[in-house]
Amino acid sequence: MSAITMSIEDFVKQLDELAQSATVAFAAAQDPAQLDEARVEFLGAKNGQLKSVQKNMGAVPGPNRKEAGLKLNAVKNSIQTAFESAQARLLGDTGSEARDPTFDATLPGTHFHVGRLHPITQTINELKDIMGRLGFTPAEGPEIEDDYHNFEALNIPRAHPARDPLENFYLSVAQSQAEHDATFSENPLLLRSQTSTVQIRVMEKTQPPVRIVSLGRVYRPDTADWSHYPMFHQIEGLMVDEHVTLADLKTVLKLFASNYLGDAVPVRIRPSFFPFTEPSVEADYFWDGKWVEFGGAGIVDPNVLRSVGYDPEKVSGFAFGLGIERLCMIRHQITDIRYLFTNDVRFLHQF
Ligand code: PHE
Repeated sequence: MSAITMSIEDFVKQLDELAQSATVAFAAAQDPAQLDEARVEFLGAKNGQLKSVQKNMGAVPGPNRKEAGLKLNAVKNSIQTAFESAQARLLGDTGSEARDPTFDATLPGTHFHVGRLHPITQTINELKDIMGRLGFTPAEGPEIEDDYHNFEALNIPRAHPARDPLENFYLSVAQSQAEHDATFSENPLLLRSQTSTVQIRVMEKTQPPVRIVSLGRVYRPDTADWSHYPMFHQIEGLMVDEHVTLADLKTVLKLFASNYLGDAVPVRIRPSFFPFTEPSVEADYFWDGKWVEFGGAGIVDPNVLRSVGYDPEKVSGFAFGLGIERLCMIRHQITDIRYLFTNDVRFLHQF
């Protein structure tokens, strides 16, 4: 037991001076090694300065001990805080190297895999954009459709092969011919086989002039191969106004193809047949040295205009329906439609 006593004032003074010089030393450290030296000097468990001042606590007179202890703790904390902030400063300055001496800043970093839109979605957005610039407003329709909008209103007669149960995904299966006929008269539901349904849905609700574009999924029970898939996407365009002709259709298709492919693309039309257009055409565009099938189109059949309450004597229109996969594939030189729907990231990452 030391015979020498130390007043509480002296003890506090010693601690304050210690806190002062430790803080200065930590702040002055230029690198982790210097900081560590200062740490050993002030906070070292054996010969650190804090330890030796602490030893003097025994010399403080008994009644002042508690005060001395509290002061000691406060100073210990403030020195520790000063050390930690110096440490944070140095680690921040020198990056991970200070934290981990084995860190090699020249090694390739960790890549963040940023998500992206599916190539079909990208194509849809772009096509919508192009048609938007031509004045066509986007419109949507349900994927679960009824017989009326998928066929009847589009002038597709009962006996037409396009309505065959084997050509469509009907949502109810008839067990007999009688049941089949009954269901048919009840306007059965099916997954829409074409986006032309949206023509009807829009015209039912809008008076001419109409200028819409609809992009979405359609379903047909086709066996999947490089160019077929039971689900695919179509872009449907419809323009109804006074004096709309095939010339307007051809101009729009030409501008559309040229915008999408980024070059002046010639477009040709060939005679064809669809129940809901008269005349009907197949359109092709010339790309990469050959004529490529664009899709079906034509002048909206007067029967269709009548079914939505338009007067075919006053207005006329054109409509077209194109396969979106085909457009996407030609742009990106994709050779098999199935790549688009198997969700292989090695494929999807390329877009
Ligand atoms: N709906 C037709 C199809 O799926 C394409 C088409 C649309 C034809 C509009 C004419 C007019 O094949």
